[in-house]
This record gives sequence, structure tokens and C-alpha cells, in this order.
Amino acid sequence: MVTGIEASKAWTEMLAVERPLSIGELFADDPTRVEKLTLSIGDLVIDLSKNLIDDRVVATLLAVADEADVESAIGRLLDGYVVNLTEGRAAGHGLLRRPEEARAMVDGVDVAHLVHGVLARMRSFVADVHSGRRLGATGERLTTIVNIGIGGSDLGPSMAYEALRPHHVTGLRCRFVSNIDPADLRAGLSDLEPASTLFVVASKTFATTETLANAKVARDWIVDALGEKAIASHFVAVSTNSQAVRNFGIGDDEMFPFWDWVGGRYSLPSSIGLSLMLGVGSDAFDQMRAGMHVIDEAVRSTPARANAAVMMALIGIWNRNVLGCVSKAVLPYSHDLRRFPAFLQQLDMESNGKSTRLDGSPVPYETGPIIWGEPGTNSQHAFIQSIHQGTSVVPVDFIGFAEPADALVRVGAPDDTRHRTLFLGMLAQARALAFGRSLDEVSAGPFAEHRVLPGNRPSTVVVARRLSPSVLGQLVALYEHVVHVQGVIWGINSFDQFGVELGKEMALDLAVTAPSDRGADPSTHSLLRWYHGFARGPDGG
Ligand code: F6P
Repeated sequence: MVTGIEASKAWTEMLAVERPLSIGELFADDPTRVEKLTLSIGDLVIDLSKNLIDDRVVATLLAVADEADVESAIGRLLDGYVVNLTEGRAAGHGLLRRPEEARAMVDGVDVAHLVHGVLARMRSFVADVHSGRRLGATGERLTTIVNIGIGGSDLGPSMAYEALRPHHVTGLRCRFVSNIDPADLRAGLSDLEPASTLFVVASKTFATTETLANAKVARDWIVDALGEKAIASHFVAVSTNSQAVRNFGIGDDEMFPFWDWVGGRYSLPSSIGLSLMLGVGSDAFDQMRAGMHVIDEAVRSTPARANAAVMMALIGIWNRNVLGCVSKAVLPYSHDLRRFPAFLQQLDMESNGKSTRLDGSPVPYETGPIIWGEPGTNSQHAFIQSIHQGTSVVPVDFIGFAEPADALVRVGAPDDTRHRTLFLGMLAQARALAFGRSLDEVSAGPFAEHRVLPGNRPSTVVVARRLSPSVLGQLVALYEHVVHVQGVIWGINSFDQFGVELGKEMALDLAVTAPSDRGADPSTHSLLRWYHGFARGPDGG
């Protein structure tokens, strides 16, 4: 039975429309191309012109968006309707960044006072830590924040903390520990003093194995050095599960709540951002939230053809479902944004890496691509070779900034042209991908054919003047909307993540499996026997 978008005229026409063959010819044929395919949203400028699309393709893609009623879906998401149908709840991250005076309804209930009440508590706590009104158990200032969390309780705050480096609060540093590998916490604590360390245990469920295991070791580290009573001064928690937080030994006054209608990978503007707020200050945090809101409202109110998020989503659908591209590379030409690809991996792949639709039917087309990437200039000396000349076509999102984030280092300063080189390097890569180099252009000589670049490799260039807190928020919200729009078109639920559960259950099973237990499959059993030959203590030692 045909149940989804594939049954529509719009989808059929999208699959059938003549595919442009040459990006170079598209530019030659239409002098208005750049103007037509450059969109602005907030402070971001987005050049879509180096994608393999023309007016006819865009028209069929817009019809697909219309067919899926993307416009209403964006409204329902932002207005707190129950859009996460498999878990029966809203995906209310848009409500977390509304201004205080705006109502924020979740499933008919106004939650604005809850959201702003927690934000006010966070600001006051941060001010106390910064001013020294809140001290460690021995009366020392708290100068290192260690965030213990994983997935959405780590990637957003850690990415944003790195991204906002010029805004780091003087005299305070943040560390992020996520991995259950003892090496992560050990390295994180190696040069710290318990008396000046504050742990933020961040977990939506407060049931995540990795986070709880690391938090227990951190608690022992504090108790061994400062005694049991010090826990109250050196631990705070961020969670939706107050009972589990209490059970861990952290009191209600030390807990910053959020709500089950905030998805983990969308939780950066919630109290999950506490470590970030401590690290960059509440003004920068609020500017980031405000930037997100700017994008929410622009995405809600801009017609699809001029809507950068919708158009980026549609081009992603084109690349995935028509051109057959399996992955997408995200290359920020910004060292401070180096964790952005990892953040986007969770955002996109945990949201849209699905193969069952909301009505329970299997998807008959490809869904979310594999997202990967590294900071731009480094990738130029590593994997970008394959994007230029490899046998797979990998669309790229380039992200770059006209000015360095540090106010004192101006573009064009006579003694330092590095930022200029960085930015121009990005433009050169996008150009080389699109237009390549033909045999005619390669100077004659041996192996000339090896120096031919085919071109025709699609890319999108996202630029802004500078990576400010607001611009960071805008980038995050932009990609959240891209992912959501694609999920709507594919008919999947972008807000659950059942795929991660089986591995967790099996890990628990294996934890109680004896070497002689043949319950596991033969391969796992053989590896277990090998492992038990070495591992004797609880820590594998
Ligand atoms: O296992 C995946 C996941 O549930 C993510 O969706 C989530 O961001 C992460 O684990 C951490 O979960 P929690 O915040 O509940 O510890």
C-alpha cells in the first residue's frame, strides 16, 4: 500500500524532472543565478547557487514541501503541539528561546513562567559563582567547571563553549567529560584541585550509564579530598528527573530542571546550557538564545522559496533522494566551530536516521544522510582530496566568517592575513568543487589526466560577519529547522531515538554474562572469552 509522500504527484515529478548536468552551464545560462539562489536569514547569508539545481528542480522541490505541508508543521513545532507522536509529547525547544513576555504553550499549558523561572535561577547561580558569593566547601573560589554528560547533554554545551572562546569568563574554565572510558575523567581531573572544582552533572533522564558512572567517580574524588558534606558545594545537577538526582545525593536547591518536552539534542537553550552559561556569562547565553529565536520566527514567517531553512532542507532531499548522495560534509572555516560537525551529527543522524514512518510503514526512500566533517582548513590537507576526485559525490556545507571572532584581530591587519587566507581558502574550495578543472586547462605534460578535477560537486556556503553568540544560536536553530523540515517530508518522527536502545540493553546483558555463558551469539561469545582472559577487576584491570 502506498502511504506517504512517494504517492504524490509532487514526489513523482521531483524524481522525473530533468537533472541539470553541469553546474558550470547553469551559471553560464542564467546571469541572475547567484542573486536568485542567495538567501538571507537573520545575520546569515546563504549561497545555494553551487548546487545542482535549476528553476525547474526548485519548482518541483517546492511542490514537495507544499505537499508535505511543511509550513503548518513548522508552526505546530514552534507552538508546542505534540509533534513527537511516538512518545506523545511536544518538541518544545523553540519555546525555550522566546522572549519573557511571550506566551509559550505546551499542549495547551503556558510554560513561559517555568522556562523563565529556571533561566532566572541559572543567571543568579552563575552570578554567585562568578562573584565568589558561591564558594567551594573550604571557602575557595570555584574556578573550574566540569560538565559530566553525554550526547545532547554534552555536545551542545561543549560545542558552544569552544565556539564562544572570545567570550570565556576570565578566571574560570570549563571541561566536558562524556566518555565512560576512565581515561576521559582521569585526564579531565588530572590538573584540578577538588577545592576549586564544581561538577555539573547533566542528564535529561539521570539514568544514563556513562554519566552516572563518571559522576560517581567524581563524587568519590570530592568526598575523599573534602568529606561527604562537600558534595552540596561541589555538585549541581541538570535533569528532568528530580528523584534520581536526590538519590544521587544532590538536593533540590542544587538541581536545575527542564522538561520531557525538550529533546536531548535540542536542549542547548535549556538548563543543559548551565555549564556554558557559567563559562561565557549569562549575557552571551541570552544572546545565543535570542539568535535562535530570530531564526525560529524567520522560518515560521518566510515563504518557502525565500526561506533558507526550507530551501536547504529541500536541496538536502534533492541530493539524497534524487542524486543519491549518501553523506554530507560540514566544513566550518572556523577553528572555534570545530565541534559543530560532531554536534550536527547527533542533531541530524539521531533525528533523521530512521526507516519507519509515523504510520508504521517502512520508508521506501533514503532518509537522513551521514553527516561528518572537520574544520575547513585542516580538511584541505586531509580528506578533501576525496571530495574533489573520489568516486562518491559528497555535498558540502561550508561555514565561514568575514571577520575573526576576536575583536582585536581585524581582517586586513598588515601583519596578519591568516583570517583572510582562511576565508578565501573556503571560497576556493567551493569554487573548485563546482567548476573543477578540465583537461584543456591542465598544462600539458605527463599524467595530465590525474590533475583533472571533474567539478559538478554541490556545495552550500553559509557566511556571517562574525561568530558572535547570536550568530552561533542562529546557526544551531537553522540546522534544527533543516532537520525538522526533512523529517516532515520523509514522514518520520525526528524526535525519538529508539535505535539507541538495543545496544544499551545488550551492554547490560553482557555485564552479567559469565565467560562460560553461551547465551551470546558465537562471535560475541568468542570475544567475551578473549576479554575475560585479561579482565579481572571491575575496571577491566
Ligand atoms: O542514548 C541516546 C541519548 O538518549 C540521547 O538522545 C541523549 O542526548 C543522550 O542519550 C544523553 O541522555 P541523558 O541526557 O538522559 O543522559
